[in-house]
Amino acid sequence: MKALVLAGGKGTRLRPLTYTSAKQLVPVANKPVLYYGLEALRDAGITSVAIIVGDTGAEVRDAVGDGSRFGIEVTYIQQEAPLGLAHCVLIARDFLAGDPFVMYLGDNFLVGGIADLVDAFRQADHDAQILLTKVAEPQFYGVAELGPDGEILRLEEKPEHPRSDLAIVGVYTFSPAIHEAVRSITPSARGELEITDAIKWLIDHGYSVHSHFVSGYWKDTGRLQDMLECNRIVLETITADIRGVVDGRSEITGNVVIDPGASVANSVIRGPAVIGADARISDSYIGPYTSIGESCVLQDAEVEYAIVLPNSTIRGVSRLTYSLIGRNVEVTRADAVPNTYQLMVGDHSRVQVKA
Ligand code: DAU
Repeated sequence: MKALVLAGGKGTRLRPLTYTSAKQLVPVANKPVLYYGLEALRDAGITSVAIIVGDTGAEVRDAVGDGSRFGIEVTYIQQEAPLGLAHCVLIARDFLAGDPFVMYLGDNFLVGGIADLVDAFRQADHDAQILLTKVAEPQFYGVAELGPDGEILRLEEKPEHPRSDLAIVGVYTFSPAIHEAVRSITPSARGELEITDAIKWLIDHGYSVHSHFVSGYWKDTGRLQDMLECNRIVLETITADIRGVVDGRSEITGNVVIDPGASVANSVIRGPAVIGADARISDSYIGPYTSIGESCVLQDAEVEYAIVLPNSTIRGVSRLTYSLIGRNVEVTRADAVPNTYQLMVGDHSRVQVKA
């Protein structure tokens, strides 16, 4: 069995971060989302993996390399434009050859791995297997309607008026029958070859498509609130590991990971939280569910329920919460009069100031 991991696309909902960076590389607990997926594939015994990349391909290649450090072998396939999930299957035809495969959306986050799903697919003789889960806002996903015996009655991609609250999760398993399906469908109203339409094609042409419910936690990390929520879920599972330097005036409580080279002085950290290598924290408070990236500087700052990417500085600011801060960002207090907000913020950024 092979795997096709999708790491192209545009990532418009995470702008401005995705102007310069792949959305699949935004870190959760200081580790790119994509890595969790690659590890899940490896743990399911799949080592032959193709990654679809787009404009941010160079960065994805840099981050994943040949896959050996994950115990997998990676081939890259360049997609000329984000023409849809089914288009990715189309361009991976040679790599996939006649093998069954898992298609894994690189921005999906699934706790508990996929070994059960892959085993179930290997044992059964289905042409496709989809994963479903109940969500609050089904209009943002592919949506399935099931019959009384759990059979799939209808699949719709981001319907305006969803007929159920069952979202299609971004991990699918396919037999080679999918190749004819992706060749047969036409682009949707949003101009993409939809995998949902290809699966619908399989059902309409008498192929067996099976659905499973996700047993663990799942999130599509496309939006800020989802990133922060995934970060919270992963941080809930960490155990304390302090390898940086913490001075006697600091107080660390709960599960806190402090990576080598990081220093904490005269500060309070309430876990769960992770502090990346070489970060410098002084005269600051870091509250629960916070990930501070490598080489960040926090001075006289208060940060909680947030993700801060590497090399950023937060100085003289309290209290920052519910935030995702990019790389090489500076958030500082303007000391001189007038006492104003002074901003230089990228396109499509969001800044919320205290009322
Ligand atoms: O997350 C689950 C949802 O994923 C499903 O419920 C939907 O049925 C499915 O269509 C998909 O919807 P999204 O709108 O969330 O897909 P998105 O455009 O975010 O793309 C998913 C991943 O695939 C993402 O890592 C980017 C990558 N991608 C996307 C497209 C359209 C590519 O590599 N190439 C592409 O052409």
